[in-house]
Amino acid sequence: MRSVINILDLSVEELQKLIDTANNIIENPKKYAHICDGKKLATLFFEPSTRTRLSFEAAMYELGGNVLSMSDAGSSSASKGESVADTAKVISCYADIIAMRHPKEGAPLVAAMNADIPVINAGDGGHNHPTQTLADLLTIYREKGRFDNLTVGFCGDLKFGRTVHSLIEALSRYNGIKFVLISPEELKLPSYVKKDIIQNNNFEYVQTTDLESVMSELDILYMTRVQRERFFNEADYLRLKDSYILTPEKLNNAKKDLSILHPLPRVNEISIAIDKDERACYFKQVLYGKYMRMALILMLLEVL
Ligand code: CP
Repeated sequence: MRSVINILDLSVEELQKLIDTANNIIENPKKYAHICDGKKLATLFFEPSTRTRLSFEAAMYELGGNVLSMSDAGSSSASKGESVADTAKVISCYADIIAMRHPKEGAPLVAAMNADIPVINAGDGGHNHPTQTLADLLTIYREKGRFDNLTVGFCGDLKFGRTVHSLIEALSRYNGIKFVLISPEELKLPSYVKKDIIQNNNFEYVQTTDLESVMSELDILYMTRVQRERFFNEADYLRLKDSYILTPEKLNNAKKDLSILHPLPRVNEISIAIDKDERACYFKQVLYGKYMRMALILMLLEVL
């Protein structure tokens, strides 16, 4: 029995196996339609979600399994003070696997240490979001056919952006990646990611506040939302929220085969005019997230 709390819990070989399984599911969905008959996924979401919770649930239904869903912490016994550890022990009596989102960093790890079933981190505070990274990796693989030798720009909230932290960790295991870190001063990448992952592994990187000055270099542009829910001070959020707004004009210098990713939800940071651009990958990324979650469920339940 194993859990996935951090993307580094999966080896490069396992990531490739998940990608291969997801691609196989895309080509042969009927082959997988009953593979999880009789199995139950519990989705425990202590923070709002559209994509992650519903794609986990769609994933389990498309594998033939069932879902126990807790989408509102206020309607659970967490609101009476029940601990994450006790919640995990209790859910182990009802389900075969848990996907948990929590506003506190480390909560899914605590759940994994106390559950008798696999736990998947579906996002913990400003820390990690490994299954979003699985969606991102499948998108990059299907668009570029490789992970090596790519220049990847991360733009927006790199401080609290858990999807950014997890994707940088994942890409650090490939060769020839150049990281381009684009953010306001106040939302720069935390040093535990910059030093431990990028600098200690001798990756080339650039840090800038100016998106347009680096646009022509990029193979991948990973846009992110400035997250109101992570700010202690509304005035700071209002000052920073529109730091970057991607418009068609700003793509004038971009490569013809640039891939634009965004974990979504977006607010203002990508103009809807970009949606028609064939370089926009963010809605494909949503769909790929479901297939990678299907593959991960199969791996952790040891069904394949
Ligand atoms: N990308 C992502 O985690 O979206 P949700 O918050 O809607 O799950």
